[in-house]
Amino acid sequence: MRAFAVDEFGQPGSIHDLPDPKPGDGEVRVRVAAASLNPFDNFVIQGYLKDRMEHRFPVIPAGDLAGTIDALGPNVQQFKVGDHVFGVTGRMVLGEGTLAERTAASTGTIAKRPQALGDVDAAAMPLAGVSALMSVEAAAPKPNDVVVVIGASGGIGSYAVQLAAIAGARVIGVTSSANQEYVKSLGAHEVIDRTAGDVLDALKSKHPDGVASIIDTASDAPSLARLSEVVRSGGTITSMKGSAAVEELAKRGITGVNIATQVTTARLAHLADLAAGGKLKAPRIRTFPLEQAGDAFKVLGSSGGKLVVKV
Ligand SMILES: NC(=O)c1ccc[n+]([C@@H]2O[C@H](COP(=O)([O-])OP(=O)(O)OC[C@H]3O[C@@H](n4cnc5c(N)ncnc54)[C@H](OP(=O)(O)O)[C@@H]3O)[C@@H](O)[C@H]2O)c1
Repeated sequence: MRAFAVDEFGQPGSIHDLPDPKPGDGEVRVRVAAASLNPFDNFVIQGYLKDRMEHRFPVIPAGDLAGTIDALGPNVQQFKVGDHVFGVTGRMVLGEGTLAERTAASTGTIAKRPQALGDVDAAAMPLAGVSALMSVEAAAPKPNDVVVVIGASGGIGSYAVQLAAIAGARVIGVTSSANQEYVKSLGAHEVIDRTAGDVLDALKSKHPDGVASIIDTASDAPSLARLSEVVRSGGTITSMKGSAAVEELAKRGITGVNIATQVTTARLAHLADLAAGGKLKAPRIRTFPLEQAGDAFKVLGSSGGKLVVKV
């Protein structure tokens, strides 16, 4: 099969001809239609995780996928050959990824893709959408609660803004100048340009009584500790980067949650239902052919929305 892979960490990667993967126990093999990139995938090919997780060269990066099941491993009951699915591979070894014509995926980390959700939109959704869903569920906004989303234009932020608004929150999206209109189009009630001045000052002047929650996808621990000044006692702060100082926040009556994303069939199915019902829009998506996956990595983290490689 054709796959985009790297032979060494820090190298740009190229098209390889590699053997088809074999689905293991509780796994299916998927003919990949589209795969999306996440910041994690860049950490993998740069070698930042080389001492923490097993890698197999040539390393095929990426975990998000949408495609069609073309083979079943042993002990698979929930899915059959021909099912259209999306999700993540759910593999602990790095390198048997989704920038390939075929990949193996655990049945616990994929779900059936409704017809109303296309392959490209479905491929964009798994890790970012589930991260956003877990963040909004942790923040548990009540109707009209003010919820601040930091990194609102990013992959996770694009879903978090919408999911918080669906829950009835008044959403403030924090983003850079170029992405303000995009964040408004996702349903943010207010947008703060983080490049135009101090975000904490802007939040305090607009919301002198404080806000209910911050959903953060971008801040380091010192920045998030400072931003936390605007959250009221009884509120919640979630971080995708392990930046929430849970014990310190608890002293002020604030719940801190460092999200460790777990993609499950149930969470994917919930997001797919919202998308198929027209409630959850696809983020802004830039697509690349498999041969140009290397170009997608060059803009990963700087373009807003999601990057999808069409296989
Ligand atoms: N804990 C977990 O299990 C888990 C799971 C998935 C992802 N993650 C992590 O979550 C983070 C976000 O992922 P993502 O896919 O949403 O990334 P992304 O698509 O790159 O989005 C991040 C956004 O943050 C904004 N940003 C950049 N620097 C910022 C800063 N200094 N302050 C405020 N905003 C800033 C950028 O938008 P603007 O320029 O428009 O502001 C960017 O679009 C990544 O670090 C990723 O590794 C963790």
